[in-house]
Amino acid sequence: MIDSDGNRYVDFTSGFGVAFVGHRHPEVVEAVKRQADRLLHALGDLHPSDVKIQLLEKLCTRAPWPKARAMLSLSGADAVTAALKTAVMATAKTGVVAFEGSYHGLNYGPLAVSGFAKRFREPFLAQLQSDVHFAAWPSPDLGVEAALKTLPKDWSRIGAVIVEPIQGRAGVRFPPLGFLEALGQACKKNGALLIVDEILTGVGRCGAWWRSVDEGLIPDLVCAGKALGGGLPVSACIGREDVMRAWGDPDREAIHTGTFFGDPLGSAAALATIELIERDELAQRAVDRGKTFATMLRAERLPSVTGVRQAGMMLGLQLEGSMQALRVSRSLLERGYLVLPAGAEADVIQLTPPVTVNDEQLEGFVASLRASLGGR
Ligand SMILES: Cc1ncc(COP(=O)(O)O)c(C=O)c1O
Repeated sequence: MIDSDGNRYVDFTSGFGVAFVGHRHPEVVEAVKRQADRLLHALGDLHPSDVKIQLLEKLCTRAPWPKARAMLSLSGADAVTAALKTAVMATAKTGVVAFEGSYHGLNYGPLAVSGFAKRFREPFLAQLQSDVHFAAWPSPDLGVEAALKTLPKDWSRIGAVIVEPIQGRAGVRFPPLGFLEALGQACKKNGALLIVDEILTGVGRCGAWWRSVDEGLIPDLVCAGKALGGGLPVSACIGREDVMRAWGDPDREAIHTGTFFGDPLGSAAALATIELIERDELAQRAVDRGKTFATMLRAERLPSVTGVRQAGMMLGLQLEGSMQALRVSRSLLERGYLVLPAGAEADVIQLTPPVTVNDEQLEGFVASLRASLGGR
């Protein structure tokens, strides 16, 4: 990245996790240019473009079920909105179970189920749906059993549970072994749909197409965004066909849609991105690169770093001391590296570099991190 003053940075955030395949990947750019010469805008649900249909078909073949349907949109929050609405259509229940620390986007539907920070919700509380039960996210201090005990006692109004396979904004918080599986079982037992928010973790970032499936969890609905469009705003809610059928006949009027959903440019970019990820086996590359990066970070025994959490190219550095991540991020910025502070206490550095990051860039980052932490 080069800023308006000409300073150069290596982007260890991938632009909030978007540029998994790298910024301005030539094949994505080429696909967008080609599409720009053909058609910029079509009539969404009524007369969709060919590329929109190809993208929907492609996404359904990458779904965790043999038969799937998908709905396209622009932002991650759009995809979560579609999933929450689908759960209402399919179960006729409006209650939702979400988790403390979760982040699903800031439009009204997703905001109501985001436990990350009260300050995001408080000004709008009166306009948010109130039928949301926040359960605890397990941590080293709170085991799986104790966290499961915070699920609702009464599920009669609960239509959906929404969960991130790894909580991102809350500080790259991994669920302990067995938690997601137990959650899946609780959903089955109580007739609630499981919505897995893979907007940050999915599409290769954590070393598999879907992190949840890699962990043995089969969702009913899955949300994708960020990396999916290779840099353009594209998101999707993908669901089991029998669940999605609740929307009724797709040839009739769509009761959930948006003028720009599934736009031709975004669809062309997403198709090129998916092809790249698969052809170049970028999910596997994320496994390998991520391992190398985590090994380098751990070997350094960096001062104030008490843990390195990692899955593919999603890493979290646990720092001693709240708000330290703000100081360290600033210092890294001055040294030419973009990172994000995370965690309710800003005590985690979130790292989601592009999968194209090379050894030299990793080494440069680790040296700058040591300097930013006050090491040698
Ligand atoms: C897990 C998760 N879900 C949803 C969102 C919201 O996506 P968007 O900002 O594109 O609406 C984000 C964004 O950071 C996210 O990390």
